[in-house]
Amino acid sequence: MFCLKVPTDSQWVDEALRDLGALLVDHAHCELKAASNALSLAARHPTRFALVRALSDLAREEVDHFQQVLHLLEARGLPLGEPRTDTYAAALRYAASRLPRDAAIPALVDRLLVAAVIEARSCERFKLLMTALEAADAPEIFALYQDLFPSEARHYRTFYDLAVEEAGGDEARVRGRLDALAEAEARIVAGLATEEQRSTVHG
Ligand SMILES: [Fe+2]
Ligand SMILES: [Fe+2]
Repeated sequence: MFCLKVPTDSQWVDEALRDLGALLVDHAHCELKAASNALSLAARHPTRFALVRALSDLAREEVDHFQQVLHLLEARGLPLGEPRTDTYAAALRYAASRLPRDAAIPALVDRLLVAAVIEARSCERFKLLMTALEAADAPEIFALYQDLFPSEARHYRTFYDLAVEEAGGDEARVRGRLDALAEAEARIVAGLATEEQRSTVHG
């Protein structure tokens, strides 16, 4: 899906469905992280009006997603709990830092591409969850993922388009960098245990 080089292992879905409460808790934290990442990128580039507007719009949507998940947690009497360590996102940021330096590519482009890859993986997993939850007869949680899926697909595109803009419109260069990052992401996904990967439902 999108830029991804490998599909999610089917074991990941089995693991996620085994404990829907844990999935929701982790998902809630991922939405918060997505919102705060977008806001922190916006705050660090205050002179880019279009970028700040796009990222703050995106952050507002992520907060809305967070509240939707929170609502489901409250309805089930589940506490939000502590966030788990996000091995996946940390490994992805490290992989981006190891990409060959390119004077035409500002560091912001790589930050935006990391976010794009996380959105792409989230989107792929939302789709897998929708299919599995429909069969598992969990209509409320199914409806949540059905509702969120189009936003996350749009977020992938937003981050990609912003990266191209920040690279001066050089789409070929950005695509090459995204491909390299997606290759690294495929290795990261292959190297993580299923349990560790639950965090990647959304970055
Ligand atoms: Fe989201
Ligand atoms: Fe998102």
